[in-house]
Amino acid sequence: MKFFIDTANLKEIKEAHALGILDGVTTNPSLMAKEGITGKDNIMRHYKAICDIVDGDVSAEVISVDLEGMIREGEELIEIDDKIVVKIPMIKEGVKALKYFSSKGIRTNCTLIFSAGQALIAAKAGATYVSPFIGRLDDISTDGIGLIEQILTIYRNYGYETQVLAASVRHPMHIIQCAEVGADVMTGPLSAMEALMKHPLTDIGLEKFLADYNKGNA
Ligand code: E4P
Repeated sequence: MKFFIDTANLKEIKEAHALGILDGVTTNPSLMAKEGITGKDNIMRHYKAICDIVDGDVSAEVISVDLEGMIREGEELIEIDDKIVVKIPMIKEGVKALKYFSSKGIRTNCTLIFSAGQALIAAKAGATYVSPFIGRLDDISTDGIGLIEQILTIYRNYGYETQVLAASVRHPMHIIQCAEVGADVMTGPLSAMEALMKHPLTDIGLEKFLADYNKGNA
């Protein structure tokens, strides 16, 4: 399973990259705003800075909600770097944009997916990735991981090449569950990735190994 980090924070992206397990980055307008990145030039520069850190795909989201606007923005975004994937919302105009970009060989990530039907349409329109938001579904007592499984089954039935990118991952168990059901990618915070490495028995075991070594080698 590929690990993407879901942030626009350069320090966190660098930290995840330094771990050697980072396969890409996803951003959205809220994450950019959280970092105080405003104005078109700054936003474009920030995407470039992210691309310069990571080796994999970097999702950059359009703001327009009409087809022409999405095409214009997407074409500008892909000029920044080859790593850019155009992130398009799951709305009617977005579906047309997905079709437009896929026919040109431009990679897309269809965002704000909350149902299997939306994921099916995105795949038919040729999306490279679909992003079902599992955390936001869990927030409203709906089974986020169940949706990932459902989409994977549908894609497998028909051999769709669209990759299932589990988004809105909130904690380490989400990551484990995504891996169990076979999500192609998960995108989440650095904290959830770091939590995967932690186990109290590892800490206790290491402490004892070092103490025993020091007894004989002090
Ligand atoms: C997806 O790409 C989104 O950026 C993201 O995963 C949303 O997560 P949130 O629900 O934690 O905001």
